[in-house]
Amino acid sequence: MKKSHFVYLFFLTAVFSVNAQNFNGPSWLEPQKSLSHSDQGQEFVDQLIKKMTLKEMIGQLNLPSIGFDVTGPILSEGVEEKIDSGWVGGVFNTYTPIAVRKLQERAIKNTRLGIPLLLGYDVIHGHRTIFPIPLGLSSSWNPRLVKSSAAVAAKEATADGLNWTFSPMVDISRDPRWGRVSEGAGEDPYLGSIIGQSMVYGYQGESLRKARNLMACVKHFALYGAAEAGRDYNTVDMSRYRMENDYFPTYRAALQAGVGSVMTAFNDVNGMPSTCSKFLLEDILRNQWKFEGMVVTDYTAIEELMDHGLGNEKEVAEKAIVAGSEMDMVSELYLNHLESLARQNPNVMHSIQSACRNILLSKYRLGLFEDPYRGLDDSWQKDILSKEHRSIALRAAEESLVLLKNNNQLLPLKRKQKIAFVGPQIKRKRDLIGSWSGAGDWKKAVSIWEATEVFPSKRYAKGCNLIENEALRKQLNQHDAQIQEPSASDVLLQDAINVSRTADIIVLALGETFGMSGEAASMTQISLPVEQIALLKALSKLGKPIVTLLYNGRPMVLDEVLRYSDAVLECWFPGTEGGTAIVNTLLGRNNPSGKLTMTFPRDVGQIPIYYNHRKTGRPLELDQKYTSKYLNSPNTPQFPFGFGLSYSQFNYNKPHIDVENDTITIAVSVKNSSKVNGKETVQVYFRDRVASMTRPVKQLIRFDKKEIKAGKSVEYRFNIPTKDLGFYDSKGNWVLESGEFDIMLGPNSENTQDLRINLIFE
Ligand code: NOJ
Repeated sequence: MKKSHFVYLFFLTAVFSVNAQNFNGPSWLEPQKSLSHSDQGQEFVDQLIKKMTLKEMIGQLNLPSIGFDVTGPILSEGVEEKIDSGWVGGVFNTYTPIAVRKLQERAIKNTRLGIPLLLGYDVIHGHRTIFPIPLGLSSSWNPRLVKSSAAVAAKEATADGLNWTFSPMVDISRDPRWGRVSEGAGEDPYLGSIIGQSMVYGYQGESLRKARNLMACVKHFALYGAAEAGRDYNTVDMSRYRMENDYFPTYRAALQAGVGSVMTAFNDVNGMPSTCSKFLLEDILRNQWKFEGMVVTDYTAIEELMDHGLGNEKEVAEKAIVAGSEMDMVSELYLNHLESLARQNPNVMHSIQSACRNILLSKYRLGLFEDPYRGLDDSWQKDILSKEHRSIALRAAEESLVLLKNNNQLLPLKRKQKIAFVGPQIKRKRDLIGSWSGAGDWKKAVSIWEATEVFPSKRYAKGCNLIENEALRKQLNQHDAQIQEPSASDVLLQDAINVSRTADIIVLALGETFGMSGEAASMTQISLPVEQIALLKALSKLGKPIVTLLYNGRPMVLDEVLRYSDAVLECWFPGTEGGTAIVNTLLGRNNPSGKLTMTFPRDVGQIPIYYNHRKTGRPLELDQKYTSKYLNSPNTPQFPFGFGLSYSQFNYNKPHIDVENDTITIAVSVKNSSKVNGKETVQVYFRDRVASMTRPVKQLIRFDKKEIKAGKSVEYRFNIPTKDLGFYDSKGNWVLESGEFDIMLGPNSENTQDLRINLIFE
């Protein structure tokens, strides 16, 4: 990639009388919405708790799984009988009005106090109408669209009787080997915060009490995305300085947006599992961040404390409850041990009461005591997969696509061209909806092939097997990947060559299957399967232009794909309307506007690789041996954070900067000098040039996506409070330090124009 980099030395100096002590964070983490329960809620719950036995209170802390999905190694048993006994506070994995009503009726009618159940589910990127996987959604850089996707999900999930979703996942990750990067918004704390907040706003709406809203659950607290070596569930060891600046902000942002619940993480942090970490759950979450909602563990995370080596069943149950894990997902150790523990340890008793209170308050806030059967009205079912929902999914899919390469403006295609559609992903539907789409029906998704009707002259060949590696295929098929047994690869290849020979252009759809990312899907190699690369190489020998479409849930190493393709479109797992979005983009009916939210490495050996790294004392100098670099690879990524091409050509004017009244105003005019309308996301970064701690070479501080009509210019203007240029010290205090700052602005994190200002905080 060509890098352009201008530095305008302004030396604009501005002096502020501010007391740095007053600032406890940047403006985007300032409190916006409090959960503050109405006095009525407090009063109601206090009265209810007075009537409850210890066992009933403990029952509220129990969250078994019953129904359609199993997302962990253990199954909950005898759930219905436990509901009748008042030993269940909520269930997850059951939906549809009929199934939910049966459970809710048991809780209301068969228990002494008739306390309604929470009904949770992993509604992660849509419920029945499936949106692109979260990493794809974040690539839209369009918070409003992300919010609409969550609002659609809430509408469909509540129509299915649910009132709680285990989303958003906001774990920052810098390691694409970790399969769960597909579930988050990438590597950047600021962007991740804005996307996470948008999801919370979308799910929870104005008020949880409104029956079409879901309670959201921010996860996985904390630092799950920093698992060593990208291996799922692995250990995390991290300085407080890094936590505060790079990993905590996204959880905190969700809290500021009013998220109702928090899920603990499987991993340990500095030697203490998150699920029994007083530091995380008490000092940070409750005392520092003032979280008022409820805390649920991840699946069997309390039981797994035994595998972490923290004691027997009773001991780990005690540790978890006292630390602040309030609801026990599936392990049932609270149910089995808290009663006797409470008799021995007053702290346990106190923790049970407080946990029960928070869970009941959540139910109150959801209006469940007034109407436990919310959403069980069949009239809402008509919203499921409605035309409107599908059209929002189409827009989201279109905006999530990232054009990585487009030599000689090969794209967009012309309808009349003779196209050979080749590849194992052209007709396949199973992968379109990605992982964590449990209630989605992949058969209802539109494949690329189904959307190609518009091409009068098209032919198809599968070209190669999706995955030939037997061991991998077996593992994936155990979880419904539906990968066929391989057929003769030479026959497939010959067919593809025959079909492509007479074509003007080859459109080749390759990629991972959905189960190769998501939970428990870490990979040491993040390139396409060799059989797919072999197909690409063989076709390239025909000398026809090749457009490669990629399905995947993580950044990949694409050296060979790029070498042999003339154009490359990153499609992620694009959801129910995926095929239509892709074909619209191939034809130019949609102009791609997505940008990467995670760095794409050249080689796995560069991982962890991220744009907001620190400078080191020996920054790279190519002709100096003793500087920070590799002997066999550039330091730079294949594609930097924020990168994405368009069919339009955007020209950035010289930006203007001003500082007044504690606000930095930066404005730039961007011209679309092409003949097609397009959308451009302008990204603003900054660097603190001299500080008391080492600071990143750049960090995102604002962005804005706007449409620019062909031939027109649009002004982007950003108002940034000067206090946003601070950072957290190693104790978690927000500090502002006077001195020079570079403000950088451009279409991606590498290609920026830089302005320098000098701020003096007095
Ligand atoms: C385990 C996953 O880590 C979590 O994200 C999910 O919400 C739960 N299982 C429930 O399915």
